[in-house]
Amino acid sequence: MIDKKVLQSDLPSIRWLTLALAVATLLLPVRLAVADAAIASAHPLATAAGHEILSKGGNAFDAAVAVSAALAVVEPAGSGIGGGGFWLLYRATDKIEIMLDGREKAPYAAKRDMFQDANGLPSPGLSVNGALSAGIPGEPAALAWLAQNYGRLPLAVSLDPAIRYARNGFKIDERHTRLLNFRLGVIQQSTAAAKVFLDNGEVPPAGFVLLQADLANTLQILADYGHEGFYAGTLAKKLVDGVRKAGGIWTHKDLQDYSVVVRKPIKSSYRRMKISSAALPSSGGIVMSEILNILEPLDLDDLQLSQRIHLISEAMRRAYRDRAQYLGDGDFVDVPVRRLISNDYAAGLRQSIRLDRAGDSSSLAPTHVDKSSGENTTHFSIIDHEGNRVAATLSINYPFGSGMVVAGTGVLLNDEMDDFSASSGEPNIYELVGGEANAIQAGKRMLSSMTPTFLETDDRIAVIGTPGGSRIISMVMLVALAFERGESAQQIVDRRRFHHQYLPDQILLEPRSFNKRTIGALRQLGHEVVVYSRRWGNMHTVIMDKKSGELSAASDSRGIGSAVVKRRF
Ligand code: DON
Repeated sequence: MIDKKVLQSDLPSIRWLTLALAVATLLLPVRLAVADAAIASAHPLATAAGHEILSKGGNAFDAAVAVSAALAVVEPAGSGIGGGGFWLLYRATDKIEIMLDGREKAPYAAKRDMFQDANGLPSPGLSVNGALSAGIPGEPAALAWLAQNYGRLPLAVSLDPAIRYARNGFKIDERHTRLLNFRLGVIQQSTAAAKVFLDNGEVPPAGFVLLQADLANTLQILADYGHEGFYAGTLAKKLVDGVRKAGGIWTHKDLQDYSVVVRKPIKSSYRRMKISSAALPSSGGIVMSEILNILEPLDLDDLQLSQRIHLISEAMRRAYRDRAQYLGDGDFVDVPVRRLISNDYAAGLRQSIRLDRAGDSSSLAPTHVDKSSGENTTHFSIIDHEGNRVAATLSINYPFGSGMVVAGTGVLLNDEMDDFSASSGEPNIYELVGGEANAIQAGKRMLSSMTPTFLETDDRIAVIGTPGGSRIISMVMLVALAFERGESAQQIVDRRRFHHQYLPDQILLEPRSFNKRTIGALRQLGHEVVVYSRRWGNMHTVIMDKKSGELSAASDSRGIGSAVVKRRF
């Protein structure tokens, strides 16, 4: 009787249970789809920092704080809290996609001719080395914003791994040593930088344990006081005083007024693939979408390799020309974005491409000098167990930025001011030319090429990006084509690379990647072909299979990065 009663009273709940089980079975793929989390970044310790934060209950945005801050410590050549970047975010709960713009700004005292000599020609050293070359940093503001608005954990928790790495030290690798040697002269100019990065005035060998106590304290201030901790108070005073003492022009108002900007990503498509990418003040999304729009109707796969490189390079030439002509900080200049990324506009550009002959950018093409091969700046990609996504490309510009550390802060300053067009038509360190739209102006953000991107086909979603100066855009564009064709995470990041950026008027090829016949055929078409001294870029991707929810991740074989997929449940 009792049993029956129990049974009877349990009957509805059994029905509910059955129903619940059925629903659960239906939802199983979805649950599986969000069970894994993956992070791919330029350094194993940064990837580990991100996973540590996920395991503490954080989401992709908390992990992004942890990875960004960790990279600032363990990959100081590439990015840092003395720099800035763009964080492309997708939040699964409301499907919102935004680009968090933490780009540096020109100080208020900046003048358009501040890097020109008496003849109006650029004095490049000034925009690349030392205090004058530093824009007002955006990364600390971006990390505070991320934690406060999209994260789940306190900023202090997410900054903890980075603080540990800074305080307890980590072993530097060969790349760090090589880039340090490259910037040795400038680093020696800054007593504080030399104290941090050199060992008794010498570049330490790989394996040396780098301790950054001042940086640990600064990160701790950011952890304790958030945005204000960096942009106001004692730390801000040290930064402003230090910069001014070294000949810079920062003021307290520059720091007080700094804020991140939430922007709409540039949305475009290539065939059935949807693309979300960086908006102004990055040129990345616009230039990439222009290139892909030009290429869309062309049957690239049926062509010989040299023909394919020719057509893609011609599309790059045209889009990079528009970069030089039209692009700059959209808050300061009118940029015809909609027109530039429209199909009609691309159709017009396509018409001028000849199959049998190279175009001609200009008679003014400057000589190419090997300068930077995409080893500074940094990118990481994250998809978490809830389906949130982060593609972040961060920079202090040149390797070890301006080479200047502000005494008592551990903050290595960027030299992002070089991303402005110092004088119209004169190339910067990435040989990029620009004009009025990207001229220096007080409070303006300098044009960037950083291209954190989401790609989505019928079957898969990719989170992707890379460092590499002007070549960032062409790299991301080439992997977009490869992803659309169905290539795997490792295949797309390892893909051989070529590049054309309008000026210099030449196709740049990665070494040992293209055979003599292909190079000969390109020259036959009239292209100047330059085989670069080293491979470039350091791409990191996470890819999600939309049906199974399975994640795959890959780090560029050109770097020392690590891509780790972890099962959460
Ligand atoms: O924002 C930009 O476009 C540059 N500051 C990025 C520099 C970079 O990727 C350096 N790598 N070679």
